Amino acid sequence: MARRKLIAGNWKMNGLRGDGLALARAVADRAQAAGAAAPELLICPPATLVALIAEQVASPLIALGGQDCHAEASGAHTGDVSAPMLADLGCRYVIVGHSERRTNHGETSAQVRAKAEAALAAGLAAIVCIGETLAERDAGRTLEVIKAQLAGSLPKGASAANVVVAYEPVWAIGTGRNATAGQVAEVHKLIRRELGGKVLDADGVRILYGGSVKPANAAELMAVPDVDGALVGGASLKAEDFMAIAAAAAS
Ligand code: PGA
Repeated sequence: MARRKLIAGNWKMNGLRGDGLALARAVADRAQAAGAAAPELLICPPATLVALIAEQVASPLIALGGQDCHAEASGAHTGDVSAPMLADLGCRYVIVGHSERRTNHGETSAQVRAKAEAALAAGLAAIVCIGETLAERDAGRTLEVIKAQLAGSLPKGASAANVVVAYEPVWAIGTGRNATAGQVAEVHKLIRRELGGKVLDADGVRILYGGSVKPANAAELMAVPDVDGALVGGASLKAEDFMAIAAAAAS
C-alpha cells in the first residue's frame, strides 16, 4: 500500500511569539515553493503558539499538532491541555508518549494509550512514540521493549487514518547520534508486523523514525523500508533544515 510520507517537526519547549511565527512562516513559504513534491508536513509548536500560528500562518500545506494532551476532555487538571482544546485551535495531530514525557513525567504506556484514545475521540490523529533506552539496547532487549510499548500504547480503534507510530530510540534523541539504517530497518519491520495483529489496515499505518534526523542523514534514513517519514526535533527549528529533510523524503 502506498503511504504518503509525513515529516513532523516537534519544536518542544522552544519559541516565543516572534520567532515562532517567523519559523512557521518560513516553513509555509518553503512548502509553497516545494509545491506538490513535498510530503505531508506537520509542525507541533508549543501549546502557547498554536492559536497564533493557526490564525496567522493558515496554510493548507502545513498541518498543526500538539505535543501532548490530557486523557480527559476537560476538568480540574491544572496546567494541562486537552485534545478537544487542540482540535478547537485547528490541530489535526497530537504527539503522545514522547520519551521526554515518559521520562520527565513518568508517563506509562497505559497513560499514553488513554491520551491517544482521547485524541481519537476529539477527531485528532495520535502520533504514538515508542523507543528503547541505551541500557535496554545494550542488554539486547530492544525488540521486546518496542513490542511491549506498542501493545501497551496503541489506542482502541487505531487505524491508518488516526494513528501514526514514531520509533524514537531514546539514546538518539537530541544527541546527534542517529540510529543506523540497519537498526531502524529491524525495528520498523517488527513494528509493521506487530501492527498486523492489532490494526485492520496495518499496512497503511505510517511509521516515522525520530532521533537526530538532519539534512545530512535524512536521505539514507527515509529510504529504509517501512520508514514513512520523520519526527524531527532540533532540525525542525530551522526552516531550511526542516524542508531539506522533507525534500529528502520526497525523492
Ligand atoms: P531530535 O529530537 O531530532 O532533536 O533528536 C527528536 C524528537 O525528540 O522527536
